[in-house]
Amino acid sequence: MKIGFIGAGKVGFSLGKFFTEGGIQVTGYYSRHQESAQQAAQFTNSRFYDELDKLIKDSDALFLTVSDGTITSVYDELKCHGISGKQICHCSGAMTAEEAFPDISLFGAHGYSIHPLFPVSSKLETYRELSGAFFCIEGNGPHLLTWQTMLSALGPTVQVIPTETKTRYHAACAISSNLVCALVHESLELLETCGFSKELALQALTPLIRSNTEHILQDGPIGALTGPMERCDTKTVEKHLSCFPSEAERELYRTVSRKLMETAQAKHPETDYTYMEKILKEGNEN
Ligand SMILES: NC(=O)c1ccc[n+]([C@@H]2O[C@H](COP(=O)([O-])OP(=O)(O)OC[C@H]3O[C@@H](n4cnc5c(N)ncnc54)[C@H](OP(=O)(O)O)[C@@H]3O)[C@@H](O)[C@H]2O)c1
Repeated sequence: MKIGFIGAGKVGFSLGKFFTEGGIQVTGYYSRHQESAQQAAQFTNSRFYDELDKLIKDSDALFLTVSDGTITSVYDELKCHGISGKQICHCSGAMTAEEAFPDISLFGAHGYSIHPLFPVSSKLETYRELSGAFFCIEGNGPHLLTWQTMLSALGPTVQVIPTETKTRYHAACAISSNLVCALVHESLELLETCGFSKELALQALTPLIRSNTEHILQDGPIGALTGPMERCDTKTVEKHLSCFPSEAERELYRTVSRKLMETAQAKHPETDYTYMEKILKEGNEN
């Protein structure tokens, strides 16, 4: 398998280096700016291409490691050069292969999405951490299991998912990462209304967030759960609901608490959460 990259950015550099270090042949790079492709080629000891034609001809698989919004236009460009027999891959978590590469089978090629569920923040350093990453792959060509075997041999855990679940998979990942940022943001703003400076608020929350995250990762969310919901402390939850400066905060608290109640019920099936459920519902109707 010879792999070529279009898009010499963070993921292009990192995957290319990760592959070459793992003994997979990288043909080289084509990018919007020649300097980027030249640097990536040098970094991975592969070739710099100034013409797409040549890169396509030399490669069995092409990774379109450009930004999500550009993947399909690069694919359109590739089609003009002929892609029959090629594997075309992208690394976006949000798109399926079919969405990114419409009608690819009509061009005699196969499309795959190969998503590293990992923050690739550095062109030059992140490749060292990819063996511990998780990859989610999807597509309806015949090489899916080959990709799974090849990537797992380099260290990562690789999961194949059905195409129809790709967007839900991405939403699930966003909940654990981006949405947690929103909850922390909300928490910081509330602490500011209690007289904390931004800096002190973050400092105050740091041990709480760190220890909670570690417990969740070690024991799962049910095992890690503490606090008023776990104790079914309805008085405290009622007090919380009455203290927020606006309905937006109340709504957020109630929505997340309803999910939290499911977690608490799973931990304590013997506890009756009927009144808690009522508080969280009633609040919603007010
Ligand atoms: N970064 C992450 O944490 C991460 C994690 C998982 C998945 N991904 C996915 O990986 C893909 C790439 O992300 P990235 O973070 O590597 O982005 P990036 O650092 O912005 O790199 C994208 C590169 O694409 C090149 N490019 C843009 N338009 C092009 C075109 N028309 N033709 C050829 N090259 C073009 C640019 O190269 P020049 O330098 O030549 O202008 C740029 O360096 C995205 O689909 C993203 O969703 C990213």
